[in-house]
Amino acid sequence: MAEPVLRAEEVSVHFGGLVAVDCVSLEVGSRELVGMIGPNGAGKTTLFHTLSGVLAPTSGRLVVAGENLTGRGAHIYARSGVARTFQTPRVFAAMSAEENVRFGLEFAGRSRTHAHDAFDNAASILGFLGLADSAGIPAGELTPAKQRLLEIGMALGARPKLLLLDEVAAGLTEGEVELAAALIRRVRDELGLAVIWIEHAVRVLMKSVERVVVLHQGRMIADGAPQDVARDPAVVEAYLGGEAGGEA
Ligand SMILES: Nc1ncnc2c1ncn2[C@@H]1O[C@H](COP(=O)(O)OP(=O)(O)OP(=O)(O)O)[C@@H](O)[C@H]1O
Ligand SMILES: [Mg+2]
Repeated sequence: MAEPVLRAEEVSVHFGGLVAVDCVSLEVGSRELVGMIGPNGAGKTTLFHTLSGVLAPTSGRLVVAGENLTGRGAHIYARSGVARTFQTPRVFAAMSAEENVRFGLEFAGRSRTHAHDAFDNAASILGFLGLADSAGIPAGELTPAKQRLLEIGMALGARPKLLLLDEVAAGLTEGEVELAAALIRRVRDELGLAVIWIEHAVRVLMKSVERVVVLHQGRMIADGAPQDVARDPAVVEAYLGGEAGGEA
């Protein structure tokens, strides 16, 4: 079997006495689109922090494209092909949409040779996102939905192999969430990226991905096809037993 893009081995993150991520093991292959769900506080964002080098795990190992990156910094993960968005939007409000994407391109550095090198300029990325008409508009004046797409564009500028999306559809209308889901599928289908997508809009997410992993109290309690995960008793209990954290 080909080397997975990402291999997390028994990754744990402790904040003092709190175990935010508890011995999570996860493999993601190239061109896999994986949904990640779990109630508020389940550890999803913290796990993303470790997968992108923002936070070193307390224990466990992280292997990206065959290379052990455990304990390395975020720039090393970026250079190895991991890009992410943040749960709190991070566009530069005063800069135009195009300048924001160009920032993403420059952050990535020069000599990247990943799958979709047609994506080496801001215009082609904005076109892919359907934001060509917004290129000159300050990001802060775009609709929330377009700002979210722009964040994906900034991450794509890094020309990643693995894209980590943390609630990019939060706060959007149901129609906008559907559009975001279609775009995320195109990122995988047309650009050939592996994607892990965290979202509380469970219904839309479940019909958009082939594989779902579920975190609950830091542990991975399910990993499988959406139809199997949806009727897994442990998953049903996790959602009904505590706060549901959005539509379920
Ligand atoms: N820097 C930190 N210091 C201490 N505790 C933290 C820190 N970051 C997160 N936590 C705690 O770790 C646990 C997991 O938080 P995390 O943000 O990863 O959850 P999440 O699944 O992303 O939740 P949500 O769906 O609300 O975004 C929570 O109990 C949270 O309060
Ligand atoms: Mg989170």
